[in-house]
Amino acid sequence: MKIKFAEFALPRSGALVVGVTEGRKLTPSAERVDLRMKRTLSRAIKNSRFKGEKGQFLEVAAPTGLSITRVIAAGLGKANELNALAWESVGGAIVGRVNAAGDRDVAIAVDEITDSPRDGTSAAADVGFGARLGSYRFDRYRTKEPAEKKPTLKMATVMVKDAAKAKRAYGAKDRLADGVFLTRNLVSEPANVIFPKALSERAQALKDLGVNVEALGRERMRELGMNALLGVAQGSANEPQLIVMHYDGSAGAQEQPIAFVGKGVTFDSGGISIKPAQGMEEMKWDMAGAGAVIGTMHALAARKAKVNVVGIAGVVENMPSGTAQRPGDIVRSMSGQTIEVINTDAEGRLVLADALWYTADRFKPRLMVDLATLTGAIIISLGDQYAGLFSNDDDLSEKLTKAGKAVGEELWRFPLSKAYDKLIDSPIADMQNISSGRGAGSITGAQFIQRFVGKVPWAHLDIAGVAWSKNDRPTVPKGGTGFGVRLLDRFVADNFES
Ligand code: BES
Ligand code: MN
Ligand code: ZN
Repeated sequence: MKIKFAEFALPRSGALVVGVTEGRKLTPSAERVDLRMKRTLSRAIKNSRFKGEKGQFLEVAAPTGLSITRVIAAGLGKANELNALAWESVGGAIVGRVNAAGDRDVAIAVDEITDSPRDGTSAAADVGFGARLGSYRFDRYRTKEPAEKKPTLKMATVMVKDAAKAKRAYGAKDRLADGVFLTRNLVSEPANVIFPKALSERAQALKDLGVNVEALGRERMRELGMNALLGVAQGSANEPQLIVMHYDGSAGAQEQPIAFVGKGVTFDSGGISIKPAQGMEEMKWDMAGAGAVIGTMHALAARKAKVNVVGIAGVVENMPSGTAQRPGDIVRSMSGQTIEVINTDAEGRLVLADALWYTADRFKPRLMVDLATLTGAIIISLGDQYAGLFSNDDDLSEKLTKAGKAVGEELWRFPLSKAYDKLIDSPIADMQNISSGRGAGSITGAQFIQRFVGKVPWAHLDIAGVAWSKNDRPTVPKGGTGFGVRLLDRFVADNFES
């Protein structure tokens, strides 16, 4: 779907959407259209339950004499709550609504709203961004979908007073949406399509944007001593990959990069500690952390962010086989620390152990943020509303939390401490990969990872609950959500680009 910006005009085809704030207060555009329709819009509103609440819609067939299909009043909610996220939701919800109605085009009038924290131009860009995010669909394998179930929208025109300015404001958001879509695609693809080599091949495309992309294979990782990562991969016929992406848009001004590191388990069967059959297919999205890092690198490079950043993805397939790692095996990680593998299904932390150590060792980053679908326990704690945040640095935590709030990808911080750390001590090696007790599963996972970050300011985002959505939301259709891309993009924009 294409997004366009134009000055206000009565469209010649498709649907026309105008805003109404809470208390049935028509925006100036709604007022003008209502007049043009001899007040049939306001009359319809009065005779309905439509109050202009956020997410409410009311549709009126276009009167004879107008060539458009319908006029839709979109509820905007309370004017003083119309921030960027609210406008994005409006854009996304309109796309869903108009697709269901069957229009090919929609024109959305966005007015300057008194009391709104967002000016008209920014609001128009937000609506365009929300519309684009909401238009996403992963349907490349649906060859028999009936036409009347397919989305019809080809074009959304956002009408606003200064269209040229809104279009400029939208530019970077459009690049960001490309990054989010890349991540959603990678996460939604099945594991027979996205296996480690396939993922690193997809990452090669970032070269076109000026990103330096390398992929280390099994041999190179063996030389580096990355036996924690390699142990996870050893049961699979698919060769593991460490994807290393570097983009420096700082023109040499930032010597030390910031680093994003992703867990990329393209399929997590559990290995010899095999998972139950029920729901195992979901483990194709166990590479969502790596997917988010790749999408973020895409977004940053595409919008030419003024930042020096590396993106690292540790990519493996966790399979049971005659060559697979066994419970009780002891591996020597790249850091030199030894790990007793009690449960082969706690594999993400083994992958991250070497990926983070490598990142710190090679790039000396000023900070590291890892993203991982690490624990089922985080879904028990937080459900699908917040991702878990674990960090050795209060300032970094605050910056990430703030960025998440701004973009609607929220984080909730959990504690780390010596007492939790003790739970992963092993009687026979330096540590074991799971705690012997049953409690605090997400925290002990984070404690494990922390043993591989040295003194580098670090944050771990456990995204197991938020990487995949089972239901449609206005700007996040079901499937891979792309969680993390918007958050990291904002984190960079707000803190590292000046
Ligand atoms: N990839 C899973 C975590 C997960 C579960 C992600 C459900 C998304 C949805 C991870 O590798 C895993 O298996 N974790 C185990 C850890 C346990 C063995 C300590 C878990 O959460 O059960
Ligand atoms: Mn697992
Ligand atoms: Zn996993």
